[in-house]
Amino acid sequence: MSERVEKLIEKMTLEEKARQLTQVNAVVIHAEIAAEVTGAQQGIEICREDAAGIGSVLNFDTASEAIAIQDEYLNASPHAIPLIFMQDVVHGYRTIFPIPLAIGCSFDPALAEECAKMSAVEAKYGGTHVTFSPMVDLVRDARWGRVMETTGEDVFLNCEMGRAFVRGYHEGGILCCVKHFAAYGAAEAGRDYNTTDVSVRNLKEYYLPAYRACVEEGADLVMSSFNLLNGIPVNGHRELLVDTLRDEWGFDGVLISDYGAVTEMIVHGYLESEKECAETAIRNGLDMEMMSPTYIRHLPELVKEGKVSQKLVDESLRRVLEMKEKAGLFENRYGAADPQKAEEVSLSPEHRAIARRAAVRSAVLLKNEGVLPLSEDREFALAGPFAEEKYILGNWACRGRAEEAVSIKEGLESALGRNLVSATGCGKGISETCVSDIPAGLAKLSGINTVIACIGEPSDNSGEGASRADISIPPAQAALVKALKEAGHSVVAVIFGGRPQVLTEIEPYCDAILYVWQPGTEGGNAVADLLLGKEEPTARLSMSFPRAVGQCPLYYNSFNTGRPRIPDTLKNSMYVSAYRDVCNAPLYPFGYGLGYTDWHIGGLRLSSDVLEAGGSIRVSARLKNTGSRAGSALVQLYIRDRFASVVRPVKELKGFCRVFLAAGTEEDVAFTLSEEMLRFYTASGEYGSEAGKFDVWIGLDSSTDLSAEFTLVK
Ligand code: GLC
Repeated sequence: MSERVEKLIEKMTLEEKARQLTQVNAVVIHAEIAAEVTGAQQGIEICREDAAGIGSVLNFDTASEAIAIQDEYLNASPHAIPLIFMQDVVHGYRTIFPIPLAIGCSFDPALAEECAKMSAVEAKYGGTHVTFSPMVDLVRDARWGRVMETTGEDVFLNCEMGRAFVRGYHEGGILCCVKHFAAYGAAEAGRDYNTTDVSVRNLKEYYLPAYRACVEEGADLVMSSFNLLNGIPVNGHRELLVDTLRDEWGFDGVLISDYGAVTEMIVHGYLESEKECAETAIRNGLDMEMMSPTYIRHLPELVKEGKVSQKLVDESLRRVLEMKEKAGLFENRYGAADPQKAEEVSLSPEHRAIARRAAVRSAVLLKNEGVLPLSEDREFALAGPFAEEKYILGNWACRGRAEEAVSIKEGLESALGRNLVSATGCGKGISETCVSDIPAGLAKLSGINTVIACIGEPSDNSGEGASRADISIPPAQAALVKALKEAGHSVVAVIFGGRPQVLTEIEPYCDAILYVWQPGTEGGNAVADLLLGKEEPTARLSMSFPRAVGQCPLYYNSFNTGRPRIPDTLKNSMYVSAYRDVCNAPLYPFGYGLGYTDWHIGGLRLSSDVLEAGGSIRVSARLKNTGSRAGSALVQLYIRDRFASVVRPVKELKGFCRVFLAAGTEEDVAFTLSEEMLRFYTASGEYGSEAGKFDVWIGLDSSTDLSAEFTLVK
């Protein structure tokens, strides 16, 4: 603890300390609308009086606003403790790169790091000191709108990506807050804020590792989540917030609640009063209360009554003040806030180039029946409600602006140097059924061989509070695709989405499908690069695509069950784990994606079929580019522990590497398999490996059947 922090703690009153542990939305600072801002859904209001002497502000707009608020605040502050400004810089600040779920599909942590760094540079000049990112919630249910914010369904990939985001934010000059701790992504039925009930084993095995990886990488804050977890709201979970986060992981940074989550413990039916919420939260090491007033209104009283120790309050205060020291705010109250520099760096050619490359590297080619890449002299046109759409930034697009984004039409026309015919054909709403404009659209496209159908879900149909019970392509858009095909066009579907959508109905009518997610500011240029073959699609799915929403939650690393359905054989009796109306396999599996060349992988070899503890096995295969273009493949390594003290998944990703080969060339691709990679939480609760037989695969997606077996001896 620095002398400065020690002295501040000594001289602050209890009331001042309670306010320092509170964060409010910038709108509360502006008196004219303070009264309308409620701390949480149950209508507890935070008004301007509450805002005096608070510790932090979130969701402000510009650097100038942050500077003005800081000056006004410090002029009234008895101890000259600066505010710290926090913001949701999730996938870009002003230059928006693809949503994190898309970045996950790049399988490129270095790219994630570069994007995070870029956004941090823009954000710090914009007045942001802390970003509420990375979000590393493991997700398995595409109905949940917030799958767009995470990097997917695999714990190994999420750990790598989370670490990369943390490094990037720090390199760019801001602090970062990993969220939402914990297991918020396990919301039942994919409905946001819904109950989560996760066994301790699954918590440890799947839901906690990515938060821990970010804490180990140096995340400065952790955000506790809204959800009920195993019967207790997370902010009431001492085992999670104290025993695991503080004691086991040694996290000594700031733990901040999500927006009003402290008082939501009342709505959950866990605590009866705001005062109990304050007592429970501070006891669980919650250092900063976001947008609810229980600390301000009840902490001083709780200390005076002896229910909460002064020491506990001072520990939280220390962490908050040390965070401000880390941000350099005592030396420079504004941090790096600089309106002019913010304008200079935002949307610079260099930053646009990064956003464009990220969009290229995260779009997944799901189908291509020889129609892509398009030759520039070929005649083609555009159709669909997203052909000219400029709000392709995705949810949580911070300060991004649609008018600064490049639409598909703009990107293609810029690349081709000619105008393209475009027919919207129908509306873009997820419930759109009106097909009355389709005939006119077809007439406009008549005689043009290839049509690029730009369809999907609007940006605001994923993200917070945006769960969907039906994740199919909207009826009117499906009708448009069918009509285009039936009119004889070659159909290239370019699909926007913040989640895996059900493409089963339209797939047969598409000659090619390029899934571009919400690609961000440079989306149109990136899609043009890909469609015209200037760039090859290299992304692979980081989240499974269901055939039907009824399969959700759906993920590759599931358990075998005692009655697995044997794929594609007649041996299945009716008494197997399967549906009568849909097969179990996803439409597109985890790790899947096409490029513009063809591959053959074979000749799986092990340096030994026995792995000794402390030793390692070299696992290799022969990869050949059998196509007519140079290209890159993402070679993936999976294992299965066949028999263990607790059942293990049918496959687990343990490594991946990208290989670039010229047409007709081949090379060996090798991984090193060690005993550490086989560890899990055994029946005894220990984290370790168990001797026995294992399968190992190398392949180009999680459905690979190129396997060998080895034995771990201990
Ligand atoms: C929201 C989100 C959280 C975000 C916070 C501040 O409700 O759950 O992800 O960081 O509020 O905007």
